[in-house]
Amino acid sequence: MLNKKILLGITGSIAAYKAAELIRLLKKNGADLQVVMTKSAREFISPLTLQALSGKPVLENIWEPSKGNGMQHINLSREVDLILIAPASANFIAKLANGLADDLLSNLCLARNCPLLIAPAMNKEMWLNPATQRNIKLIHNDNIQVLGPEDGEQACGEEGFGRLINEKTLLLEIKRAVGSKIFSNKKILISCGGTIENIDDARAITNLSSGRMGFNIAEAAFTMGAEVTLIYGRTDMPAPNGINQIYAPNYNEMRQVIMENAANYDIFISVAAISDYLPTRINGKIKKDKKLILELTKSSDILADIASRFNNLFCVGFSAESESIIKNGQLKLKNKGVDLIVANSINESMGEESAEIYLVDPKEVTHITKRDKSELALEIMNHVHKLTKEKGHINEHIN
Ligand SMILES: Cc1cc2nc3c(=O)[nH]c(=O)nc-3n(C[C@H](O)[C@H](O)[C@H](O)COP(=O)(O)O)c2cc1C
Repeated sequence: MLNKKILLGITGSIAAYKAAELIRLLKKNGADLQVVMTKSAREFISPLTLQALSGKPVLENIWEPSKGNGMQHINLSREVDLILIAPASANFIAKLANGLADDLLSNLCLARNCPLLIAPAMNKEMWLNPATQRNIKLIHNDNIQVLGPEDGEQACGEEGFGRLINEKTLLLEIKRAVGSKIFSNKKILISCGGTIENIDDARAITNLSSGRMGFNIAEAAFTMGAEVTLIYGRTDMPAPNGINQIYAPNYNEMRQVIMENAANYDIFISVAAISDYLPTRINGKIKKDKKLILELTKSSDILADIASRFNNLFCVGFSAESESIIKNGQLKLKNKGVDLIVANSINESMGEESAEIYLVDPKEVTHITKRDKSELALEIMNHVHKLTKEKGHINEHIN
């Protein structure tokens, strides 16, 4: 949950209608919202709609003080954790770049003492115009974070860069901007999902991993300030937007991508359910007969191989078992030579939205009662932070 105060500024872009959905998403995630709009934004979406969705009157006029000392152009930014301008028009970006302050929104951006994020949305030629690009460079240098725009079909019928960044990526970036930053300057590699191992050209063996836990861990690590790369296989849902990702659908590709990348990371979290038995692939399609006997070869454990090869890498593994969950977790911790095992019950966690877990590290076992996997991901990452700090992996000055 966000549980933060956010000032959402809406300017005169055709994408202003998307602010309505964004408000719903932010509210659903626990944000306390104050909407401020420009005079032009009013032409695109009604303040009443925004008031109804945000639960508060929308502010617009610098000369109509609603309370206190009448200086809401200063007070408003003091009351919030973050200002987000979405959509940000080319005109508003130009004002920001040059420190202009001729309405409430531009004044409070200039008088702010909190982070400012902007999500531009405009016609592709307006975006590519040297003046806009010059202004974007200027505001980058002023520590204003620019999110998007995205490529694609535009409201005017043209194709190109200028679309408002999608709301899920925006939410993730907001969480990162107001997040704990405990993994700033850390690179985290995460594998997740299941693998598909071909028997012939049509048939394959796989497993029931949904990818949910790994996606949640990737999002949690990202919002805590890490540079995250997600290697994912077969999953039941789309991978999160806004996070570096590599698709590796089978054992061999997973192994290759993980081995190639591991040396460049500080932490490796192996959530993927990678096939531990591999069929010998037959070219073409095996003819249907009464019986088919498959011979499966045991694959080499990628996590154990990584842990023994890269001594400075902090390694986390997952263990899903149907019995003796803690004991099996402790065995895996030792046998794989890793720093932490997240142990859970296979029947209650695989493919589910929630789970109960045990964090098994060399010193102790920490029980986390059943909860949503997004909450579990935060608990796991906080525990990883604690252990890496004890091991000296995390620089003290960050915390
Ligand atoms: C129909 C229409 C759509 C527009 N869409 C955009 C847009 O998507 N992005 C943009 O930067 N400007 C767009 N404009 C131009 C802005 O509304 C105009 O520059 C305005 O002065 C911006 O004011 P503001 O920055 O104070 O909100 C559009 C104008 C019209 C008439």
